[in-house]
Amino acid sequence: MMNWRRGRGSFSSWLLVVVLLALREIQTAHHKHEMKHTAVGTSRTLVDLITVGIIDDVQWASYYKSNHQIVVKAAWITEAVGMNLIEEMRHLMQNHEGDFQSVIHYLTRNDTKTERNHTLQIHFDCELDGNIQLSSLIKYGLDGEDLIQIDKLEGHWVVLNPSAHSFKLILENAFSTEMRKLYNQKYCVGAMQKILQNSSMKENLPPEVYVSRRDFPNGTISFSCTATGFYPRSILLHWKKGIEGAIWGKESSSGTLPNSDDTFYLRISLEIPPGDTGTGYACVVDHSQLETPAVYPVPEKPPQWNFWPVALSILLAAILTISCFVVFTKWMKRKSGRTSQAQPEVPFPSSVTSVTHLQ
Ligand SMILES: *[C@@H]1O[C@H](CO)[C@@H](O)[C@H](O)[C@H]1NC(C)=O
Ligand SMILES: *[C@@H]1O[C@H](CO)[C@@H](O)[C@H](O)[C@H]1NC(C)=O
Ligand SMILES: *[C@@H]1O[C@H](CO)[C@@H](O)[C@H](O)[C@H]1NC(C)=O
Ligand SMILES: *[C@@H]1O[C@H](CO)[C@@H](O)[C@H](O)[C@H]1NC(C)=O
Repeated sequence: MMNWRRGRGSFSSWLLVVVLLALREIQTAHHKHEMKHTAVGTSRTLVDLITVGIIDDVQWASYYKSNHQIVVKAAWITEAVGMNLIEEMRHLMQNHEGDFQSVIHYLTRNDTKTERNHTLQIHFDCELDGNIQLSSLIKYGLDGEDLIQIDKLEGHWVVLNPSAHSFKLILENAFSTEMRKLYNQKYCVGAMQKILQNSSMKENLPPEVYVSRRDFPNGTISFSCTATGFYPRSILLHWKKGIEGAIWGKESSSGTLPNSDDTFYLRISLEIPPGDTGTGYACVVDHSQLETPAVYPVPEKPPQWNFWPVALSILLAAILTISCFVVFTKWMKRKSGRTSQAQPEVPFPSSVTSVTHLQ
């Protein structure tokens, strides 16, 4: 019986190790390429167009309508993708400027009374696991509202806003479908594979974590926990009280934000109600670069200087000093009395002088 138990225990820990190794593998082999187009214009003119390419949360290229150029983040990326492919993409973007304009015109065709600027967003992404393509997503949005999306290349468009019903027919035609497949294979998956063949986008880095505490005069206590400088982007931050205490309070989060060096930043805060002393709280951080979730305790309440205890101890110290002094002078007086009986009794201040005089 014991043997069997021990055997099962080691079997499950062996299984755990395998699962953990598998997770690490997925983390290193899983990649995502996003292409985000933002076009601004009225039904007649295209005012602006910006396209950015992002691989594994790092922006690698951008296209601006203002100069019709593609800017690539680093020379090694240009080299890996190849000048020919980059020039092809630049040419394509420039040719598509008119198409963005047409789409804005089509989607706002009922809005003829007011001529105003609209924002069209097209999001295109593809994901790879090793050499297997997982999925592709294309989504259109207008003025901040989702219109229509497709999440598999051979799938169907899903209308997210009734105004996009007729647009669906356009997107479903054979030519659009062929273009989509070509773009996905050549620019989304193709460019990403070329870039990742040689190097990852960025060295993985664990988060630096700072925890702070603030006591408000009204009794409310607020904590904040900041993780920064980490890569990749996924991270988990949460509050813990004691072993498994429930957390009561107002929680808020900054959302994961990019730093200028392609690492990321996330700050969460917690405001606990008056009455809770705020002891035993900690911030728990989990990230792929940490072996296990790291626990950062919230600092204890800073010691406060209450008036009465402080005043009393100062008074006590003063009394002690004075009585020591009195005892000392009395002792000196007695000693000097013994050495020279002739000296007359002197009042208190002069006895100090006489002491000095004796030495
Ligand atoms: C990428 O790898 C290829 C083949 O191994 C090599 O020729 C090329 O110089 C590498 N490029 C970079 C930027 O490391
Ligand atoms: C659209 O935006 C551009 C640039 O901000 C501006 O010059 C133009 O007047 C705007 N058009 C309308 C109709 O508001
Ligand atoms: C424009 O109006 C027509 C007819 O009322 C309607 O079918 C269509 O969905 C509208 N299009 C947009 C983009 O709102
Ligand atoms: C106490 O003050 C803080 C900061 O002004 C505020 O956020 C909090 O809501 C206040 N709490 C109560 C219970 O009024």
